[in-house]
Amino acid sequence: MILEVQNLNKSFRHPWSLQKIQVLFDVNFRIEKKSIVGFLGGNGAGKTTSIKCLIGLLSYQSGALKIFGKNHLEKAVKKEIGYLPERPYFYNYLSAEEFLRFYGQLSGMSGKALSIRIGELLELVGLSHARHMFLTQFSKGMLQRIGMAQALIHKPRLLILDEPLSGLDPDGRRQLVSIIQNTFTEEDTTIFFSSHLLDDVDRLCQDLVLIKNGRVHYNGPKSDFVDRGKRGYLIRHSFASKTAVESVSELSALQLKIDQLREDGHQILNIEQEKISLDEAFKEFQGQGGAR
Ligand SMILES: Nc1ncnc2c1ncn2[C@@H]1O[C@H](COP(=O)(O)OP(=O)(O)OP(=O)(O)O)[C@@H](O)[C@H]1O
Ligand SMILES: [Mg+2]
Repeated sequence: MILEVQNLNKSFRHPWSLQKIQVLFDVNFRIEKKSIVGFLGGNGAGKTTSIKCLIGLLSYQSGALKIFGKNHLEKAVKKEIGYLPERPYFYNYLSAEEFLRFYGQLSGMSGKALSIRIGELLELVGLSHARHMFLTQFSKGMLQRIGMAQALIHKPRLLILDEPLSGLDPDGRRQLVSIIQNTFTEEDTTIFFSSHLLDDVDRLCQDLVLIKNGRVHYNGPKSDFVDRGKRGYLIRHSFASKTAVESVSELSALQLKIDQLREDGHQILNIEQEKISLDEAFKEFQGQGGAR
C-alpha cells in the first residue's frame, strides 16, 4: 500500500468569529500500487487542504493517514516524499544550482553525489543553461520546473504535486507533462497530483480521486469513472452502398433497432458504445449535487 487516508476530518477556525468551519468530511482514499493518480475537484473542494494534512503541514481533527504502511508523520516516511506546493516560495537570490543544493542538503545529500544529481535534474527539467541564474530572473514556467527538480532531488518514492501545470503556457505544460511521465516510467515513483487541466490529467493518469464539498466521491481507475458516463450505442449500417449511423440510447432498444434495420434490407457494419471524455464525465460529476 502506498497511501491510505481514512476518515480525515479537518476544520478551520474563522479568522474573526473563531467559529469552526469544517472543510473535509471523513475523506477516504487509497493508492494501492505504483500509479499516476489525478486528484480532481472544483475550487475550494479540499484538495490543497487534504495534501497539506497528508504531508504534515496542517493538523487535523481526526483520521488515520498512512504512507507506505506507516504513520505519515514518521521521519522515515517524510524522506520518501517529494512535494511541489500550490504556491511555492522561492529564495529569489539563490541561483538554480544553489537552490537545489540547499534542498539536497536538507534531505541529507552532499558532495559529489549531490553535484551529479543537480546536473541530472537541471538536464531533466530543461534548465541546464540556467544553472547560475538567480531565481528572480526566472519566468513562471522556469520556476515551476525548478520546483519540480526540487521535489525530485532525493528520488522520492511518492511525489505529491499541487497543481503543477497551472499558469503555464502550452509549451511549458507539455514539458512538465513529459517530466511527470518520464519520472514515472524511469523511477520507482508514484505520483499524486491535483489539477484542473483535464486533458493533461487524461493523458497522464491511470487512477483518480474525486473530491467535492470536502467529500471523496470516487477513488479508482480513470477508465471506470469515464465508462460510467457511457452513453448509448451507435449502429453503422449500409443500404444500396450508402452508409448511415443511427444511435439508440439503451441496450434494450439496440436489438429491436438491429432487427428492424435488417428487415428493411440494411447491412449492419458495426456497433459501438458511445464514449464520453474525462472532461465531460467530470462536468457531469460536478453537476450532481451543486457546485464546488
Ligand atoms: N487557512 C485557511 N483558513 C480557513 N479556511 C481555509 C483555509 N485554507 C483553506 N480553507 C478553506 O477550505 C476549503 C478547501 O480549500 P482548499 O484550498 O483545500 O481547496 P482546493 O480544492 O485546493 O481548491 P483550488 O482548486 O482552488 O486550489 C475552502 O473552502 C477554503 O476556503
Ligand atoms: Mg488548491
